Amino acid sequence: MRRQYAEEGITEADLAPDPVTQFTRWFGQAERAGFLEPNAMVLSTADAAGRPSSRTVLLKGYDQRGFVFFTNYGSRKGTELGANPFASLLFPWHSIDRQVIVSGAVERTGRDETAAYFRTRPHGSQLGAWASEQSSPVASREVLEQRFAELESRYPEGEGVPVPPFWGGFRVVPQTVEFWQGRPNRLHDRLRYTAAADGWTVERLCP
Ligand SMILES: Cc1cc2nc3c(=O)[nH]c(=O)nc-3n(C[C@H](O)[C@H](O)[C@H](O)COP(=O)(O)O)c2cc1C
Repeated sequence: MRRQYAEEGITEADLAPDPVTQFTRWFGQAERAGFLEPNAMVLSTADAAGRPSSRTVLLKGYDQRGFVFFTNYGSRKGTELGANPFASLLFPWHSIDRQVIVSGAVERTGRDETAAYFRTRPHGSQLGAWASEQSSPVASREVLEQRFAELESRYPEGEGVPVPPFWGGFRVVPQTVEFWQGRPNRLHDRLRYTAAADGWTVERLCP
């Protein structure tokens, strides 16, 4: 699989007219290549002073509007995005010699969209969202489990769990999307879409 991609490479002529359609193609190929979680992506944010931080999150939806993940708005990433609403997403599909990097402005998803996704989560994950003050120090694991147990007795399985007001989605609206394909002799293909007033421009970058 890896060799096949490396031999084929990508050319400007192969690319879809927009990066979301191109992403759909590569995401499908990553899924078919048997990845455990092809939707795991490294989200990088920066605080108001420009200091960066990164962590993995799961892509939960994407369309022409952008790429969506869900998290705790009070977490480190949430606080940073509040102060500096720009982010980078990196899909590290190493085993097929590919990488996709999205960068752009970030906005919160609407509460309806958040609620619709929250309702699809397993009961335990819904309670976990309430139990965890994500990114804050906690005295011990027991404290966390105690909070969870209290929530379990308050909202037993089958009972609707309200969406935590401090929890929801972020959408990264792409400004640039780079598709990287490993090739022999380090002459990798890098094709980058940039948003323009009337669509997308594509440039090839040196590897
Ligand atoms: C594979 C994987 C998927 C994850 N998915 C999410 C996610 O979708 N949302 C989330 O808030 N944290 C997710 N996490 C946890 C984050 O990496 C991180 O620990 C957490 O969000 C706190 O980050 P912060 O303190 O930088 O805000 C995931 C971790 C891994 C390893």
